[in-house]
Amino acid sequence: MFYPEELVEEIRQKNDIVDIISSYVKLQRKGSSYMGLCPFHNEKSPSFSVSAAKQMYHCFGCGVGGNVFTFLMDYENYTFVEALKHLAGRVGVTLPEAEISEEAKRQAGIKARLLEINKEAAKYYYFQLKSQRGQAAMDYLTKRELTEETIKKFGLGYSNQTGDDIYRYLKHLGYEDDILRESGLISFDERHKVYDKFWNRVMYPIMDVNNRVIAFGGRVMGDGLPKYLNSPETKLFDKSRNLYGLNFARTSRKPNFLICEGYMDVIALHQAGFTNAVASLGTAFTGLQANLIKRYTSEVLLTYDSDEAGTRAALRAIPILKETGLTVKVINMKPYKDPDEFIKALGAEEFQKRIDGARNSFLFEVEVMERDYDMDDPEQKTKFFNETAKKMLQFTEEIERNIYIEAVSKKYDIGFDNLRKLVNSYGARLGTGDSYKPREHRERGRNKNLPIEGIRQSQKILLTWLIEDLRLFDKIKGIITPADFTEDLYKQAAELLFEQYEKEGKVTPAKILNYFESKEEQKEAASLFSLELSSEMSAKEKEKALNETVERIKKNSLEKQSREAIEKNDILTLQAIIKEQADLQKLHISLTDG
Ligand code: UTP
Ligand code: MN
Repeated sequence: MFYPEELVEEIRQKNDIVDIISSYVKLQRKGSSYMGLCPFHNEKSPSFSVSAAKQMYHCFGCGVGGNVFTFLMDYENYTFVEALKHLAGRVGVTLPEAEISEEAKRQAGIKARLLEINKEAAKYYYFQLKSQRGQAAMDYLTKRELTEETIKKFGLGYSNQTGDDIYRYLKHLGYEDDILRESGLISFDERHKVYDKFWNRVMYPIMDVNNRVIAFGGRVMGDGLPKYLNSPETKLFDKSRNLYGLNFARTSRKPNFLICEGYMDVIALHQAGFTNAVASLGTAFTGLQANLIKRYTSEVLLTYDSDEAGTRAALRAIPILKETGLTVKVINMKPYKDPDEFIKALGAEEFQKRIDGARNSFLFEVEVMERDYDMDDPEQKTKFFNETAKKMLQFTEEIERNIYIEAVSKKYDIGFDNLRKLVNSYGARLGTGDSYKPREHRERGRNKNLPIEGIRQSQKILLTWLIEDLRLFDKIKGIITPADFTEDLYKQAAELLFEQYEKEGKVTPAKILNYFESKEEQKEAASLFSLELSSEMSAKEKEKALNETVERIKKNSLEKQSREAIEKNDILTLQAIIKEQADLQKLHISLTDG
């Protein structure tokens, strides 16, 4: 963290969360908290709650949650430091100037100049498009049915036919060769001859999430090759970390994102009202891009070209997207090649129907696989089912697996039980199936592995319970310590909570969020504080639930410790653990006495 913890906490305390959120969302008082329409997903009745006491918010609909900092980070797309600065300014706290090294200053200076250059270039290209010289380009865009408004929104432009036009223009604005060399707009050969990288092309500025131009794509107006040229990677432009259209899509407030392949697809989709469309930048989809998307939505619909290459690209993107926990569906665009052509031919309403009918990505994968087999040949058909059954093992939860077995067996008319038997036989062979074996790096959330998920849940419940009922800290003293929380994030939260309780006799949930850096972690930690434990339980039921929860957590922790002790051949520790395990049998925490 760049700023002292006390300062961050002071700023948080001075900015009342109800005040802050009220300036963005209409809130209504409901008992001890405030309710409103969630700004992070589409809804008609309020499920977004803000607690003045906890200084936190939580949406029961989409699961977002956090404190004043995370709210601004999400809503305004601020970084943590930007949110901190904003809130500090609001309450008149001055932040110390961060100490920046000379080198960092120099690099920041270069980046700022490159941004300026890109902005000037984009303005120039736009101006050229509008001028006499850009007539052919303008005709081209008109032929592709782009409106004046769309051209302006995306800042499209035209690079002139002369080979050093933008170079001369930028020189005239006072930029030196050294910085122009780094802009990616101009090439210098050995003899110091200068060429514009883009000439006689329609220009597509590529913007970052903050609407700053960081690169360009340029399209030939006819059938020349290459069809598109893109800026090389520069200090500003990293293809794997940006998405075309994200600057608009991030505020579209639609329930999902559409991912397509081309610049033109994004533009056509936005023009047709699908302002949640993005595209990768002429390269395969990356995990970094998936993470970027995850910040704004939890569901993506792939609308890749319906040709062979598009299908292959979709098959490669699906696991990458799923890995980050996104739900993935695939839109069928047949008989058209891409969204741009589809919309031109059938219009937005028909496209919306395809969105509504998007297939689950697993069924899409199975369908593509089917093409490799001759389904009229019994032997081939059997092979196909075997492959499908193997693929089903990615669903580690039985309920989920059964849903897919049902869908596939219906589609191919094979009978649920037959397919299930096949799946289970593979499961048994691989040690998965009904008796699921825990794997090390399971992604969170999706593909829930039951035993691990259960223990996570217990740890989460106990933490929530501690926050709600401070008496429990003393009740579990000597039994549970933060080290017993085997989930890293919960362990960290437990350490902070136990420490707060010990030092201050109370806990300050919103403060704890300051310690988590990634949004995912903040969200997960925030959910600890917003879970309502059932208040309808009787005292006896509560007591039973508490004992069971504590027992499970401790048992799991001791098992882990004993595995480690066995690995290290540490007999003494192992004996101590066995004794603790025996003591655990006798555990009873009473909620009624004292
Ligand atoms: P497409 O060939 O599908 O282009 O390439 P498109 O977007 O549909 O363009 P139009 O409709 O023919 O004008 C998809 C994307 O792949 C990258 C670009 O990002 C393009 O938008 N690409 C394609 C390149 O970078 N270079 C190329 O030569 C071709
Ligand atoms: Mn196209």
